[in-house]
Formats: sequence, C-alpha cells, structure tokens
Amino acid sequence: MPCAVPGEFSTQETPTVPSNYQAVTSHGCDQRILRSMELKNIIIAPDDLVLITGASGFLGPHLVASLLRHGLRNLRVFVRRSSNVRRLKAVIAELGAGARIEMVRGNLLSREDSVAATRGATVIFHLTRGNGSSFPDAFMNSVVTTRNLLDASLEHKCLRRFVNISSFAVYSNKGKARWRLLDESSPVEQNAGCTRDAYCFAKVKQDQIVIEYGKKFALPYVIVRPGSVYGPGRPAITGRVGTGAFGFYLHMGGSNRIPLTYVDNCADAIVLAGLTQGADGEVFNVLDDDLPTSRRFLRLYKKHVGHFRSIYVPHAFSYAFCWLWEKYSQWSEGQLPPAFNRGRWHAEWKKTRYSNGKLKRLGWTPKVPTAEGLTCFFEACREREQNA
Ligand SMILES: NC(=O)c1ccc[n+]([C@@H]2O[C@H](COP(=O)([O-])OP(=O)(O)OC[C@H]3O[C@@H](n4cnc5c(N)ncnc54)[C@H](OP(=O)(O)O)[C@@H]3O)[C@@H](O)[C@H]2O)c1
Repeated sequence: MPCAVPGEFSTQETPTVPSNYQAVTSHGCDQRILRSMELKNIIIAPDDLVLITGASGFLGPHLVASLLRHGLRNLRVFVRRSSNVRRLKAVIAELGAGARIEMVRGNLLSREDSVAATRGATVIFHLTRGNGSSFPDAFMNSVVTTRNLLDASLEHKCLRRFVNISSFAVYSNKGKARWRLLDESSPVEQNAGCTRDAYCFAKVKQDQIVIEYGKKFALPYVIVRPGSVYGPGRPAITGRVGTGAFGFYLHMGGSNRIPLTYVDNCADAIVLAGLTQGADGEVFNVLDDDLPTSRRFLRLYKKHVGHFRSIYVPHAFSYAFCWLWEKYSQWSEGQLPPAFNRGRWHAEWKKTRYSNGKLKRLGWTPKVPTAEGLTCFFEACREREQNA
C-alpha cells in the first residue's frame, strides 16, 4: 500500500456531527451531546491510514469513536484472535458509515503480524499493554510489542507519528515536598523494576524504547500519559483511593485529589495530542478538571453504588505501613509480594497537585464534566453489582 500525501483538515471540512448525537460508549446514561473539538493543523489528511492497537481494550473503542467523530475515515483496528470485539463493533456500527475500517487480527509479539499491522499506516495510536499481573507479561505485551511495531514502521517508511500511550504510573514523585505540582517535567521512575510494580516497570521501559527510536532513527513520536481513566466498562475503584488487604478496604488517599480522566475526554485528548502538528517529541499528561478528593470519591461511591466498610489510614501511618511491608518483603526474599512499597506510596498516595495546562494550551477541554462522568460511572458500577 503506498504512503498517502500529507495534508491537513479542520472540523469545517469533516462530516457534520448530528445535533442529537449520543455517544455509543456512554452506556446509555449520558445523554449529552458530544461536540467535535477543533482539530486544526493536523499532520495527516482524513483518508490517510491510522492504526489503533489495543483497540478491543477499555480505551480502544472510545479512541476509535473519537477518531471517527473527528472525521478520520481510514482506520485499521488491530485486535487479537481471542479479543472480545463487541464494544468495538458497536462503535463501528454506529459511527463508521462512510469510513473505511479494517479489522486485523494477530498478535504484536509476532514480528510478521506487526509488519502486517503497520503497512501503510501514517499514524499509530499504540494502546496495547500487558495486564501487569507479572513482570514477564507486562514486559512482553507492553515493551516487546512496542519494539516490534517501531521496527515494522521503520521498514515501511510511511509513519508520520507514533503515539505512545504511557501512564501517570511512570512518574516517581519522590524527593519533593508534599502538595508540589506534578506535570510533564516531573522525574520519571529510574528503578521501577526494584521499587515499584510490573506495570510501572513496563510503562517506563516502553517510554524509553520510544524515545530511543526517536533519537536513533528520527522516528516522530508523541507520548500521552493519562491519569486514572474511568468510565462505564471498567467498574473498579482506582488504587489511588485505596486497596483491599486483610479483608478490609484500606482508604489511603484521604484528601488527595485523584488524577481522573473520563474515558471519552481521555480519547479526545489522545486524538488531539496525537495529530496536532508541531507536537513531535512532546509529552502530554491527561486529567480532567474539578477532580474529587479520594475521600469524596469514596463517599460518593458508597452512596451511589453500595456501602462497604473501609478504614482510613492517615498519611504518616500509610508511609510507615508501606516501609514495613517493603522491608519484610525484602527480608523474606519476596515470599510476601511487595504490593505495598514506598515507591507506590510516593506515586499514588502522597499529597500532590496536578496540571492539565499543557494539553489545554493545545486546545483540549474535557467535554464531559467530572460530576457527569462520575454519575455515569457509578450507574454502571451499580448495574454491575446488581447483576453480579
Ligand atoms: N485504563 C487506565 O486507567 C489507564 C491509565 C493510564 C494509562 N493507560 C494506558 O492506556 C492504554 C490502554 O489502556 P486500557 O485500559 O484500554 O488497556 P486494556 O483494557 O488492558 O487493553 C489492552 C489491550 O491490549 C491488547 N493486547 C495486549 N497484548 C497484546 C498483544 N500481544 N498483541 C495485540 N494486542 C494486545 C489487549 O487485547 P485483548 O482484548 O485481546 O486482551 C487489549 O485490547 C494502555 O497502554 C494503558 O497502559 C490506561
């Protein structure tokens, strides 16, 4: 397939969004109109081929919906043979009229499949990740898949941008006072394999390999780092609020604000950062406005979804608890897994402020306000509890 000619388009030239459009991904409880954000000065034309990996995951169908809403008309969605593509197919059925959408099945651990996936692609949105249950799984499915895609893209010589979906998990947040600002300039974890967890380790390595290919082969890339993505389809409380241990729910977050981003807002942010001209080599954090504190989130969850017992662990105690757990885990040579450790405490539970200023300067605003996003999320959680 030949590489397409570079171009640009704005929302004026894209198909009009019906005035009564309701997001297919909104679980039926969000009746708001999702208007197009303005996409101008972008690096490709509407008919240039865009590849989305990890398209069957939680975020994938929302990203596909956002691309279609913004007038991209030539998408290749990559899924595994075993992937559940129900939500993805629903999005395509609702929004895909007039677009060319190819579903390719394979595994990005295979170099041949990676070559087939990237053939002709001008932009790659790389969402694939390991489930973080173990270091090998996280490394294979986050890092090796990334390397395979990058190598394959170099072969084709068509790529105008590799959009690497990273995570807030990569920030170490150590060595600074409480309540300091965490933004794109904040230090990234250096020793994640020893001090954090498999997911963080893999995401740090994934970012490193993308940056390395950028330097070595002049491969254009953008790194997008969402905070905690929430919405219907992932009815779980983020670990930044707390976690279960010894039969209790330990509420660790207290008065910290949670860097939440509603899944449709996050998808729009990825599209904007991924396609805007002049963003090569940049990093963008994604989080919404009006973020709730951990305490407020938990209170709302209990009120709207269902009550359960939780124990608040004040910050000094939670730090001491993580320190003791980490030491015992080291002393026992890993017989007790290091589920709690100081690295995690700094990253997830230390009092911190966040900023979405860089993304906003690009023209992004979260279309779904947090209050509305939470209502929708709690409704989906409640439904799931009732059906369990
Ligand atoms: N969700 C969040 O809160 C959050 C926060 C920050 C960053 N992120 C990042 O955002 C991205 C998307 O997250 P998500 O929550 O949508 O993840 P997800 O639901 O776990 O989806 C991961 C996707 O990767 C696919 N995949 C895994 N290994 C693969 C392989 N070897 N070959 C091909 N496909 C493979 C999975 O396919 P199957 O469907 O077959 O399993 C799935 O579609 C990830 O990079 C994640 O790190 C997510």
